[in-house]
Amino acid sequence: MSIENNSSDKPWAGRFTEPTDAFVEAFTSSVGFDKRLYKHDIDGSLAHARMLTHVGVLTADECEAIVTGLEEVRADIEGGAFDWSVALEDVHMNIEAKLTDKIGIAGKKLHTGRSRNDQVATDIRLYLRDEIDLIATEIKRLQTGLLDLAEREADAILPGFTHLQVAQPVVFGHHMMAWFEMLKRDHSRLMDCRKRVNVMPLGAAALAGTSYPIDREFSAKLLGFDGVCENSLDAVSDRDFAIEFCAFAATLLMHLSRFSEELVIWASAQFDFVELPDRFCTGSSIMPQKKNPDVPELVRGKTGRVFGSLMSLLTLMKGQPLAYNKDNQEDKEPLFDSIDTVRGSLRVFADMVPAIEVKRDNMERAALSGFSTATDLADYLVRNGVAFRDAHEVVGKAVRFGVETNKDLAEMSFEELSQFSPEIKQDVFEVLTLQGSVAARDHIGGTAPSQVRAAVKRARDNV
Ligand code: ARG
Repeated sequence: MSIENNSSDKPWAGRFTEPTDAFVEAFTSSVGFDKRLYKHDIDGSLAHARMLTHVGVLTADECEAIVTGLEEVRADIEGGAFDWSVALEDVHMNIEAKLTDKIGIAGKKLHTGRSRNDQVATDIRLYLRDEIDLIATEIKRLQTGLLDLAEREADAILPGFTHLQVAQPVVFGHHMMAWFEMLKRDHSRLMDCRKRVNVMPLGAAALAGTSYPIDREFSAKLLGFDGVCENSLDAVSDRDFAIEFCAFAATLLMHLSRFSEELVIWASAQFDFVELPDRFCTGSSIMPQKKNPDVPELVRGKTGRVFGSLMSLLTLMKGQPLAYNKDNQEDKEPLFDSIDTVRGSLRVFADMVPAIEVKRDNMERAALSGFSTATDLADYLVRNGVAFRDAHEVVGKAVRFGVETNKDLAEMSFEELSQFSPEIKQDVFEVLTLQGSVAARDHIGGTAPSQVRAAVKRARDNV
């Protein structure tokens, strides 16, 4: 056992007597995926160095050397001139080693009063905070697209469905505003998550805090954190903020997946309610007639991995004793994958939605079949003094007659309709039109075109 056997390039090599097994080195390394944290790692280190200088642990000269060195490292990474080393395990040790190569002894002082445990927890939070802000902007862009589409199609009638059976007519704008509302809640979930992400672990060190006279508020301010984690054990070990983000992501993708499902159905030859622009579709290598709605299908498909990431992180946490455990290195890939998937899905939807072409005639034709105004006939009878349950029965019989004779309610003659109730008068046809049906639902949350336009206006004031 000699000092030569140490893996001397490793910052922690001092107490080891033989090099790390080659496969173990690769197996335990995270640099392949955590190098994407480089910017936030450098920002965190800059703040840490400035704080150490502020409290007198580093000299101004040392601080200057560290700042200059870290900025050079940043430039090397961004210029593609940085050799990431698996032997150096992760992004943190890679950057620190490179800094020390560049500036010597001052580089070795950067890690004073800090551990990779509080460092990595800080990096992830800084990184996630930036991603949250980008995602929030993208949600708003999609919402704006939905508002434009809703306004444009505020009086385009289509059948509304329950059980995927024709239920009642609605307007397309109203349907789009339903998606808008879901995204509004997703956005608010994201902003709520951001509050808990934006708290600083740095200063917790390995788990118990540090014996140096650190000023955590000072570094928190430099890094734009709202505050510091109050307990060092909690700070280095919990990843509940990442779980919250993944729960947000899972809910958002669940919504986008339902939206996708509707677009796929609506773009089919059987429905033919919408046309998706060619640039968002692909063809088939064997069937020349095909135009496939790949984008919504893929978003629907990607929902699975986002649900999976949430489950991964929950499971990752559930068995860990306090404080930091290496298990936590596994937090990154599910989190990164969720971020990438959310960003990609939002981007493609925000690009596609304003370009959706609505086939008004086909939608209206579909709304005219399937007895979509049956509830309107029942409501008409109620207004003429019939109890709702009796009215329901009368209309049910009229519908059965319609099924047998292959006629929708509005296609029946007055003689045919009035045989079901003496309360059916000549004015009945006014309520059997699609336009009359939607216009009658004239209250907040209803499908009347005027209400949809008002909802769009209210929403624009808030987006
Ligand atoms: N790569 C590690 C991670 O992602 C950094 C922290 C490692 N800490 C330690 N004591 N091994 O969690």
